[in-house]
Amino acid sequence: MRVCYLLGYPVGHSMSAVMHNAAFEELGLDYRYDLRGVSPERLGSFMTGEMRDPTVRGANVTIPHKLAVMEYLDEVDSEALAVGAVNTIMNDDGRLKGYNTDGLGAIRALEEAYGELEGVKAVIVGAGGAARAIGYHLSIRASEITILNRTQDRAKELAAHLSSMPECKASVEPSSLHRSALEEALKEAEILINTTPLGMTPDVDETPVDGSLIRPGTLVFDTIYNPLRTRLLREAEEAEARTLSGLRMLVYQGAAAFRLWTGLEPPVKLMIDVVTDLLGGEQG
Ligand SMILES: NC(=O)c1ccc[n+]([C@@H]2O[C@H](COP(=O)([O-])OP(=O)(O)OC[C@H]3O[C@@H](n4cnc5c(N)ncnc54)[C@H](OP(=O)(O)O)[C@@H]3O)[C@@H](O)[C@H]2O)c1
Repeated sequence: MRVCYLLGYPVGHSMSAVMHNAAFEELGLDYRYDLRGVSPERLGSFMTGEMRDPTVRGANVTIPHKLAVMEYLDEVDSEALAVGAVNTIMNDDGRLKGYNTDGLGAIRALEEAYGELEGVKAVIVGAGGAARAIGYHLSIRASEITILNRTQDRAKELAAHLSSMPECKASVEPSSLHRSALEEALKEAEILINTTPLGMTPDVDETPVDGSLIRPGTLVFDTIYNPLRTRLLREAEEAEARTLSGLRMLVYQGAAAFRLWTGLEPPVKLMIDVVTDLLGGEQG
């Protein structure tokens, strides 16, 4: 039996365990996915001890460990280094390597919904971990990216970081979350991405963007998956925009981790169905 962990603190409710365990079972693999709450004080001893046990195949990493875990790894792949965070770990005979699959998961979901992203004009709301991962992959493809964040210094820092990457093709500008800044940014945008928790259960009446600012035809991608239909997506529909929930990003980042751990192609359709069932809704 090989074990994969979700490493976070706390790790009370997670779709990943149900999704991965269903996929392991479907392929008849002797694998199990367990939630593993490890406090920041215990992270070091966990990473140098139990995480290197040969029965442990790997882990997903979530809040608050995505940055802190990096110092305990033997290697970090170039994409995770560029993003500055690790969300997946592989244990190869006690040697730990870190990856980041969030950004590619999001890009795959976006490409399915939008098509080719080359030359696109995008607005990202938020400048935290999810924005960094998505921003990195988008900056390789898009022509313009505006990053709007509550704390403007973080938007500036992320815009400067993305612009400094040799592979960046986009002009990346920081801005504030004020209505006038949003209005200006959304005039030209073809894609709007929310990476803040605004609108997530239980605060489902919140939204990061006033629906009246959304133009028809824009693709609005809310990385939140609980609920599947956030207020932002409902208002986007009313504005005749296209919508994408965070469900497929969740499944595709998980599928990429599954490939790393097992070397096998995961049953992606089953994983989408399992998470959709758990969230009690139609596919986003
Ligand atoms: N679908 C998926 O697979 C997936 C994966 C990862 C994340 N996500 C989603 O992304 C969200 C963010 O995750 P993260 O790891 O990027 O978190 P994070 O690093 O903590 O970043 C949170 C971001 O949201 C902003 N924010 C938080 N509360 C806000 C508020 N009340 N008003 C305005 N802005 C606010 C923060 O702004 P400041 O800089 O001003 O604090 C920051 O930019 C999660 O809640 C989750 O819904 C989805």
